[in-house]
Amino acid sequence: MAYYPEELVEEIRQRTDIVDLISGYVRLQKKGSTHFGLCPFHNEKTPSFSVSGSKQMYFCFGCHAGGNVFTFLQKYENMSFPEAVRFLAEKTGVKLPEAEESEESKRARSHRDRLYALNNDAAVYFYRALRSPQGSLGMKYFEKRGLDAETLKRFGLGYSLQYSNDLAKYLTKQGYTAEELRDSGLCTFSEKYGMGDKFINRVMFPIQNAAGRVIAFGGRVMGEGEPKYLNSNETAIFEKRKNLYGLHLARSSRADNYILCEGYMDVISLHRAGFSQAMASLGTSFTPEQAMILKRFGKKVLLSYDSDTAGTSAALRAIGILRECGLRGQVIDMQPYKDPDEFIRALGAEEYQKRIDGAENGFMFEIRILRRDYNTEDPAEKTAFQREVAKKLCVFEEEMERENYLDAVAEEYGIPREALKKQMIAEAQRDGLVRERRVEVTPRRDAQSRSEDHRKYAERLLLTWLSEEPERYERIREYISEEDFSDPVYKKIAARMFRDMAEGPPQPAAILNMFEDAEEQQTASEVFHTKLDAVSTAEEKEKAFRDIVVRIKQNRMDTAGQEGGITIEQMVEMKNLIERLRTRSKL
Ligand code: UTP
Ligand code: MN
Repeated sequence: MAYYPEELVEEIRQRTDIVDLISGYVRLQKKGSTHFGLCPFHNEKTPSFSVSGSKQMYFCFGCHAGGNVFTFLQKYENMSFPEAVRFLAEKTGVKLPEAEESEESKRARSHRDRLYALNNDAAVYFYRALRSPQGSLGMKYFEKRGLDAETLKRFGLGYSLQYSNDLAKYLTKQGYTAEELRDSGLCTFSEKYGMGDKFINRVMFPIQNAAGRVIAFGGRVMGEGEPKYLNSNETAIFEKRKNLYGLHLARSSRADNYILCEGYMDVISLHRAGFSQAMASLGTSFTPEQAMILKRFGKKVLLSYDSDTAGTSAALRAIGILRECGLRGQVIDMQPYKDPDEFIRALGAEEYQKRIDGAENGFMFEIRILRRDYNTEDPAEKTAFQREVAKKLCVFEEEMERENYLDAVAEEYGIPREALKKQMIAEAQRDGLVRERRVEVTPRRDAQSRSEDHRKYAERLLLTWLSEEPERYERIREYISEEDFSDPVYKKIAARMFRDMAEGPPQPAAILNMFEDAEEQQTASEVFHTKLDAVSTAEEKEKAFRDIVVRIKQNRMDTAGQEGGITIEQMVEMKNLIERLRTRSKL
């Protein structure tokens, strides 16, 4: 993290209030000294995401995501650490030293930052190529598809020339190494031909992340050819499942909905027609990760998928995923056109707006598609259809909602309401009414790792406790040291905390900055969020406190004994100490 001076980073952190910052993203409610809300990092219905003003940390008791203001931005906005620092420096008015881009500091920057810079340079290269004389083919293609200069600019559209390694040469000249070229997903290396470009003679669509940085490209052949679209390989900064084409523009749209479509060209056409809330998944079907991104913004999601069979089944899958993530999707009817791009070109924005206003409820869409498979003139097929409907109604966990859908379907398809309800209950009893909850599967553990867990649990309890009631440290400082902790992360935290407490209360969020690795940061967050639930009276509390200290010392002695490296005298001394502690009612 030696990118900005530690003192500056710490000053920025102290000037930022985590409750304020996170309130801008998550609706929080105060409960006691802590704020709670729905976790933005996993799907849940009851809030287990906590933000603490005194610790200046967030922690989710459900998925254990946790950290300080910087880690929050890194995770939520997909920023790198230096980006998060710069972002908050700006907000808090702290001046950062100019980051001089010497050759050396360039190399020292993290790999991810290099890949961002490389993709940005590549975007500039493609953009210029489209506008150069050799780019006229690409320009003609875009014109043929009805794109004007303004749209080409807004989406940064470009062109890859007809040479086999022009981009590779360009990027090399910009100072990127062969390894970086390979890791960027834009160039390929072969023994025979050396470094070559992945995209040749295609119109280019830069893919931007939520913050607007270029992270990858899609390239389309002009005319016929396979594959129609080629996409960057996945890289350290590009994960298809976690990004949406057009999101950086759509997120600031004022519409009360998001439009999800299938293709790059659909998004571009919709934006051009004024629907800047449109975006698309990237060459794969819609994913739960993308649904969680949309969920953050709290708007309804309209699907504008192709009207063919493939588009319809993709829409059905997307509705299922939205529902899993607690979102209700609606479906925009594209008939008689194939996709939004064609629709807009044929009928225009006004007609499209009418289709938005008339969007169909996702569940009703599912039932309508289902209905197509049955010939309801035939009593047997009719029964089978109705049975299937009854089964589908069971996806709604909430009774009132289930009843409302039951009413709607019964009415729409002329199914006797009571009979449908009975059948639904029968189906529910067969499957268990409440959908199986997705439980995280924890691997079966052996006895050793369980006792390891207990040991760490006690250590975490003590550290959380001391961070909240630092005055307790005086009472145990002669017995406990960092050496008593088993996990390297815990050891590091204990050492720092005990040192800091000589001067004042410990600052968990500052301590967190010692860890660069995301996994270590998570471990560290847990250390500050481990609590005993079952203690209520002051007396119980004191007893629990003593027990924890005794347990930690006992564990230390046990491992020391097993591993050797401790003299008999030390062992006896430790044993006596534990005995003394055990017999005291209070430390
Ligand atoms: P479509 O074939 O519907 O593309 O594929 P489109 O956007 O409507 O393109 P035009 O109008 O024919 O130019 C939908 C999306 O699927 C991905 C792309 O993201 C595309 O936008 N796709 C499609 C690929 O990744 N590779 C392909 O070969 C085809
Ligand atoms: Mn199309």
